Amino acid sequence: MSKAGRLVVLVSGSGTNLQALLDASADPSYGARVVAVGADRDGIEGLARATRAQVPTFVEKLGDYATRAEWDAAIAARIAAYEPDLVVSAGFMKILGPPTLDAFPVLNTHPALLPSFPGAHGVRDALVHGVKVTGCTVMLADSGVDTGPIVAQEAVPVLPDDDEAVLHERIKTVERRLLVEIVGRMAREGWTVSGRQVRIGNLTGGEST
Ligand code: GAR
Repeated sequence: MSKAGRLVVLVSGSGTNLQALLDASADPSYGARVVAVGADRDGIEGLARATRAQVPTFVEKLGDYATRAEWDAAIAARIAAYEPDLVVSAGFMKILGPPTLDAFPVLNTHPALLPSFPGAHGVRDALVHGVKVTGCTVMLADSGVDTGPIVAQEAVPVLPDDDEAVLHERIKTVERRLLVEIVGRMAREGWTVSGRQVRIGNLTGGEST
């Protein structure tokens, strides 16, 4: 497998996006492989999925550190130990700090059409607002909350009787497929970032202009 495909995936919950990446990477032609899974809490299904797939895991809890900066440095060091080419924040409910963001490209997935409804409650906020179409966004992380350059988006309809759980499941079905497609293409084809424009293909992975 080419080095371009080493993924460290970060999770905080059920890890169904992680599972989709684990399943996709069972095929060597996918071009990317999950080399470690990190979390900010114990006892979550995302970590159990990694263990079942015989992928190493690590946990760094914010509450175990006196300052945010110390946690930022600790999680960056854990990530760095696996020499990833791409970090995927897949339902990881923490903002990563400069030690990680300056060292690695970080891809993030969000259950709304950014820039609408950023943050921890994107599905609920869209529902409360009464939108008729929402969706999911795959973007490169920056220091803001869901503000980085957008890589891909897909729309999902909101149906009249949706509650948050039903709508989130409809979004996640699309989100998993989109994330798998984008991570695979980035690993196989490379990508460039120019300002807010992300372009996949024909170019060396991770270059910024
Ligand atoms: C996903 O829908 C992801 O977009 C969302 O958490 C879910 C994780 O699902 N992330 C955010 O809301 C981040 N702002 P999963 O644990 O089943 O992959």
